[in-house]
Amino acid sequence: MSRLVNRYAAITGWGDGLPPAVLSNQDLSTFLETSDEWIVQRTGMKERRVSHVSAIEMATLASRRALACADLDPAALELIVYGSCSPDEQVPNSASGVQVALGATRAAAMDVNTACTSFLYGLSSATAMIQSGMVRNALVIGVEYISPFMDWSNRNVAVLFGDGAAAVVLEASDTPSGVIGTVLGCDAEARQTLRVRGMGCSYVQGDLHYGDTLWDFDGQAIFKRAVHGMSEACARVMREAGVTADDIDLVVPHQANLRIIEAVAKYAGVPMERVMLTVQRYGNMSAATVPVALSDALSEGRVKPGSLLLMPGFGGGLTFGALLVRWGSRVTPLRTSDAALPPTAQSALEMVNAIRARQDPHGRSLDALMATRFIEAAGG
Ligand code: ACO
Repeated sequence: MSRLVNRYAAITGWGDGLPPAVLSNQDLSTFLETSDEWIVQRTGMKERRVSHVSAIEMATLASRRALACADLDPAALELIVYGSCSPDEQVPNSASGVQVALGATRAAAMDVNTACTSFLYGLSSATAMIQSGMVRNALVIGVEYISPFMDWSNRNVAVLFGDGAAAVVLEASDTPSGVIGTVLGCDAEARQTLRVRGMGCSYVQGDLHYGDTLWDFDGQAIFKRAVHGMSEACARVMREAGVTADDIDLVVPHQANLRIIEAVAKYAGVPMERVMLTVQRYGNMSAATVPVALSDALSEGRVKPGSLLLMPGFGGGLTFGALLVRWGSRVTPLRTSDAALPPTAQSALEMVNAIRARQDPHGRSLDALMATRFIEAAGG
C-alpha cells in the first residue's frame, strides 16, 4: 500500500490509568526516618499512588480511555509505543500485552526505555513514523510500576516515586498540530548517578540477585544535571521553532521535584502560573508523569484550542529532552470509556508493607544492605 507523507501527527486522544490506592507522606514515615515536612519542603510531594495491578493493566486502561477520546477503533490502530523502564516482563515485550488486551491486531508493538523520558522519546518516534508515512496513527503510552522494585529501606529514593500510566493517540493530519519541535539528548557521562542494581542480566550471578534491588542515586548531581539538561533543551527547541517564552501557553514538565520544575521554568522565562504541576499528588511516576500531567491539564481546562505546550523531561541515562506541541482545535473527548481497574480492598501502605516483607528474603538488615552498596561502589 502506498502512503502519503504527512506533515503532522495530531494528538486526538488522551487518557490516564491511575491506580486508586494513595500512599501519603505520613504512611512513609511509619517505616522510614522521614517526615511530611521534609518531603514537602524538599520535593513538593504530598502523596503518590501504589498499584494493585500490573503495568500492562494500567497501560491498557489508559489506552482504552485515549482511544475512546479519539473515537478510534483499536482494530484500526497501526502502532503501539510503550514507554517504560519497568516492564512486567522483558520477553514478551509489554506493547504486545497492550495490543492483545485491546484487540489491536493490526498494530506494530514496541517498547521504548529511556527511563523517565520514555514517553517523550516515544512520542517523538511515533510522530516521526507518522510524518514519514510509515503509519497513519499511533498509541503512545507512558507507564511505570515502580513500587515492586523500589528499595523501600532507602529514604533517599523511596519517598520520591509512584505508579501510574497515561496514553495519547496520534493521527496523521495536514493541520499544523502535534509535536512541532523536538530536542532529545543524553548526558551519558553521568549515567552512574542513577542506577537500579538488580534489574538486568548483569545480576544473574553474584551476591545481588535479579529482582533484589539497590538504588545508586546521587540526588544532588541528578538535580543539577536535570536542571541544566532540561533548560538547554527548552531554550534550543524554542529557538529552533522561532518562539519565545511569551508564546508558551503551558509547560507540561516531567514531575521529579517541585524545585527542579521551578528552576527550569525560571530559566525558560515562563511564570509558574503557566506550569502544570502534579508532583504534589502523584510524585515521580517516571515515564507516566508527562502524559498524566497532560491528561489532567485537559480535564482541568488548562489546554485551549491552539495552545502551545512545552514538555521538558529528564531521566536515567541521563536522558533529557524538550518537545513543543501545538494543540489542535478539540480539547474535549469524542467519547468516554467505561473501562476501569478491578477494585482492591488493600491500602497502599498494606501493599508496600507486603513488598517490604518480600524484599528481604535473606534476612539482610539495612546495615548489611548499606555495606553491600559501599563495597560495590568501592569496587566500581
Ligand atoms: N527524609 C528525611 N531526610 C532525608 C530524606 C528523607 N526522605 N532523604 C534524605 N534525607 C536527608 C539526607 O540524609 C541529608 O541528611 P544529612 O544532611 O544529615 O546528610 C539531608 O536530608 C539533605 O539531603 P540532600 O540530599 O542534601 O537533600 P536535597 O535537598 O538535595 O534533596 C532530593 C534530595 C529530593 C533527592 C533532591 O536532590 C532531588 O530531587 N534530586 C533529583 C532527584 C530526581 O529527580 N530523581 C529522579 C530521577 S529521574 C528518573 O528517571 C528515575
